[in-house]
Amino acid sequence: MKLLRIDSSARRNSVSRHLTARFAEAWQQEHPEGEVIERDLATTTLPHITDEWVQAVHSNPATLNADQKQVLEISDALVAELVEADTIVIGAPMYNFAIPAPLKAWIDQVVRVGKTVLFAATGPQGILTGKKVFVITSRGGAFRPGTPTERFDYQEPYLRHILGFIGLTDVTFIHAENQKPGAQAELAKAEAISQIEHLAGGAAHSAA
Ligand SMILES: Cc1cc2nc3c(=O)[nH]c(=O)nc-3n(C[C@H](O)[C@H](O)[C@H](O)COP(=O)(O)O)c2cc1C
Repeated sequence: MKLLRIDSSARRNSVSRHLTARFAEAWQQEHPEGEVIERDLATTTLPHITDEWVQAVHSNPATLNADQKQVLEISDALVAELVEADTIVIGAPMYNFAIPAPLKAWIDQVVRVGKTVLFAATGPQGILTGKKVFVITSRGGAFRPGTPTERFDYQEPYLRHILGFIGLTDVTFIHAENQKPGAQAELAKAEAISQIEHLAGGAAHSAA
């Protein structure tokens, strides 16, 4: 049983990191034998997609030369982490109404034809089925349905779509909103923690 914990905040003392750590702790309590794999995107330098990368992913894997294999090395490693995980928790701060660039760079490396998505006659078919995903966001403002700014949430709709595109359709969002200094932030964090403790236990039971 494996949990993949992904963090993408630039800040070391970050709300989303604190919350993914709480999730991992709760999950580990439920799974004393389980393994937590940590992938910190603030300290993993991911290259942008290049012409060489695109050519390599569209080549027959059996004919890749040494340079092409090297171009795909980090992508292969990140895809392997996803394939091996039963549960995935992603810490996603809101940056400029969307996701941090390192998280987008990670997505670019793991959306791979033949590895995480197939293009069938009926359209794209995600390969990474049967996994549970939890996305923990932290945001300065509030963007939930019913708020005046809900239409500016380019985080949850995008992440839901792209994760579903590679087969990760069982996705639960936990939002820690109003993370400006003050009482509201503390309250929102406490609410997120109580959801996390409940869900990390639930995830453990349904994946067992
Ligand atoms: C570069 C940057 C851009 C941000 N953009 C937004 C934004 O568009 N909307 C918002 O509500 N908060 C925004 N914030 C506030 C963060 O979402 C908030 O501080 C959150 O807690 C950051 O997550 P972290 O604590 O895990 O780093 C931004 C913060 C930074 C550093």
